[in-house]
Amino acid sequence: MSEPAPFEIYLVATPGLEAPLCEEAIEAGFAEAKVVDGGVSFMGTWPDVWRANLTLRGATRVLARVASFRAMHLAQLDKRARKVEWSTLLRKDVPVTVEASCKRSRIYHAGAASQRVAKAIEEEFGAPVAEDAALRVMLRIEDDLVTISLDTTGASLHKRGFKEGVAKAPMRETMAAMFLRQCGYDGTQPVLDPMCGSGTFVLEAAEIALGLKPGRERDFAFEQLPSFDPKAWDKLRTPVPTNTPAVRFYGSDRDPGAIRMATENAARAGVSDWVSFEQQSVEKLEPPEGPPGIIIVNPPYGTRIGNKAPLVGLYRSLGTVIRAKFPGWRVGIITSDKDLARATGLNLELVEPTVLHGGLRVGLWRSKIVNKP
Ligand SMILES: C[S@@+](CC[C@H](N)C(=O)[O-])C[C@H]1O[C@@H](n2cnc3c(N)ncnc32)[C@H](O)[C@@H]1O
Repeated sequence: MSEPAPFEIYLVATPGLEAPLCEEAIEAGFAEAKVVDGGVSFMGTWPDVWRANLTLRGATRVLARVASFRAMHLAQLDKRARKVEWSTLLRKDVPVTVEASCKRSRIYHAGAASQRVAKAIEEEFGAPVAEDAALRVMLRIEDDLVTISLDTTGASLHKRGFKEGVAKAPMRETMAAMFLRQCGYDGTQPVLDPMCGSGTFVLEAAEIALGLKPGRERDFAFEQLPSFDPKAWDKLRTPVPTNTPAVRFYGSDRDPGAIRMATENAARAGVSDWVSFEQQSVEKLEPPEGPPGIIIVNPPYGTRIGNKAPLVGLYRSLGTVIRAKFPGWRVGIITSDKDLARATGLNLELVEPTVLHGGLRVGLWRSKIVNKP
């Protein structure tokens, strides 16, 4: 039997976090991965698609770029879309939806373009097309070049499947993992989040240390494709013996509801033995026993919850307690406001580029090792 032909696999990144995602992909064995517009790309086959979805912590979704051709007008799009080998890509019993975007192209009407491709799929192959279908065929037309992708992920990859409790303004797991990476976290250092909300940073850090794959329990859209091999998939995601971390992971928050949620989320993720959550205001923060590690935190940013003025005091207290009690630790603070970052009095540098999240530019402000007071 001949080897299956590789195709382009495209990882959608959080805007601004393409570089750490690319690093992660290379470390995961996708050696040819490179940063491209809005994401990371490499060539691979279906098992690579499954593994990327299962293991990469920083990708938002994984697209399989399955066809590409030029089309100058809708009739040409219609004709060429009918020539795509849909029978190798889709199943007759699985409904799909078609989404389109057009840029700098003679075909400029996305609705008309998606309708042509939907019709081609229905008439040439016979798969049902429904607007609310879970499986997405994505059509991108740029400079008259049509690229057809399958969204192999389904619900965004930040939904690991363990977090039922969500605090106010939660951090996305995908972003949390990339910010931890940018702070130099490699699974060996203790991690502390003193405003942990639902516990995203603490859980991600513990899972990384234990070697748990982020997609180990959830469903993926690729399971609905004819290329899916359930046996090979089971083998891929069967838990391998996990690491035993030498350190622990800590979260605190002044809100008892947040601590309850974080504790429940940790239990669902199977990391309870490695994490401690405590209700406590940041002003009372004490270093845990053991070696210094990384403090990572996204305090309220004013524009999202509450106003900026009272927050200056909160950031100042955070900085004061860290300087007084955490010599030897490194700090990463995620905020949208440079004045608030500066109010900590810590020697922080902004990691560029900043990150677009919920319509807001947020940045990781990172310190070197905190000096003795
Ligand atoms: C933006 S949220 C953090 C979200 C969290 N990273 C997550 O993923 O769910 C900010 C958190 O700071 C907490 N907080 C605000 N003031 C605090 C204080 N003085 N001490 C401790 N926690 C505080 C809030 O209760 C809230 O949970």
